[in-house]
Amino acid sequence: MQNANRRLVLAARPDGFAGPEHFAEDTVAVRAPAAGEVQLETLYVSIDPAMRVWISENPGYVPRIEIGDVMRAFGIARVASSGDPRFAKGDFVQARVGWQTHPTLAARDIEPLPGDPLDWMGLLGMTGLTAYFGLKDVGRIHPGETVLVSGAAGAVGQVVGQIAHIEACRVVGIAGGPEKCAILTGELGFDAAIDYKAEPDLAAAIARECPGGVDVFYDNVGGPTLDAAIGALKIGGRVVICGRISQTAAAELYGVRNLGLLIGRRARIEGFVVTDFAARFAEGRAWLAAQRDAGRLHQRVHVINGLESAPAGLGMLFKGENQGKLVVKVGE
Ligand SMILES: NC(=O)c1ccc[n+]([C@@H]2O[C@H](COP(=O)([O-])OP(=O)(O)OC[C@H]3O[C@@H](n4cnc5c(N)ncnc54)[C@H](OP(=O)(O)O)[C@@H]3O)[C@@H](O)[C@H]2O)c1
Repeated sequence: MQNANRRLVLAARPDGFAGPEHFAEDTVAVRAPAAGEVQLETLYVSIDPAMRVWISENPGYVPRIEIGDVMRAFGIARVASSGDPRFAKGDFVQARVGWQTHPTLAARDIEPLPGDPLDWMGLLGMTGLTAYFGLKDVGRIHPGETVLVSGAAGAVGQVVGQIAHIEACRVVGIAGGPEKCAILTGELGFDAAIDYKAEPDLAAAIARECPGGVDVFYDNVGGPTLDAAIGALKIGGRVVICGRISQTAAAELYGVRNLGLLIGRRARIEGFVVTDFAARFAEGRAWLAAQRDAGRLHQRVHVINGLESAPAGLGMLFKGENQGKLVVKVGE
């Protein structure tokens, strides 16, 4: 249909994993931009574990998405028509476009996109910045330290491991399955990988791969993985709480048992939200882009096709079906 904006709206709140049954597709007319607005054609939307939190009853530190609302999502888009002198038809931009094909947004909420648009979905976007500030500012890594990363083959984890490697740390990744572990030690340059799905005793596997202990544990997963990693911390160790995907949709929360070890280890555990560092995003992007240009940093992007595949994509993250940054290709 000409002049149509296809949208995916929240239809029901999930109890466990989210999937297509929780979203409904509708079509509305494209809205011409008023002064100070820009009308966009969406090219890619990002799929992030946090989306499952946003559609829950009580998301915590972000407003929840209401039933009937277009699903919130970062994305990249082309300007179709502009009511703002800073943007012209054909410009590539990034914005919180949502799961829709032709949004009309305020120009103040849109950023221009230099370089390869797909880089802005991961490496230079929120996931790359999350890895950069989480590891450097919260984890405070030093050359020669041992860095353990969970969710290592995912969007954030793959960048964390490569940054640690660039900073001359020993890097050990935890991921599900032999294929992901081979990617970590192969193309991503990790020193070792632990397939948590194949290890009967994760603590023993961490001790085997980090024989002197762990200086920094960058956690994307939470639950029993966090427990096992705390047990391996060195004196002065740091735990970066980036995410806890194993607990996001869990029917029963896992109670972490090893917190008492933080006392004797004089260890620190700290959570953060990437937007805490918004004032320094330009610094983070400049560093990440320089490493990419020097050939030291790259990202795996996992592309699925069609706006309608986005809800199933959200489910993929929780089943470990993505390799690297998961995005949906919406338009050409
Ligand atoms: N703090 C912040 O500001 C911030 C910003 C962005 C993201 N995050 C968090 O960072 C984490 C990673 O996000 P991402 O976008 O990079 O996602 P991702 O790692 O690309 O995808 C999620 C991965 O989590 C793993 N996983 C799923 N269920 C699991 C379970 N029960 N136990 C262990 N691993 C499990 C799967 O990998 P396997 O196949 O290896 O199991 C899956 O591929 C998420 O927790 C997210 O919420 C935080």
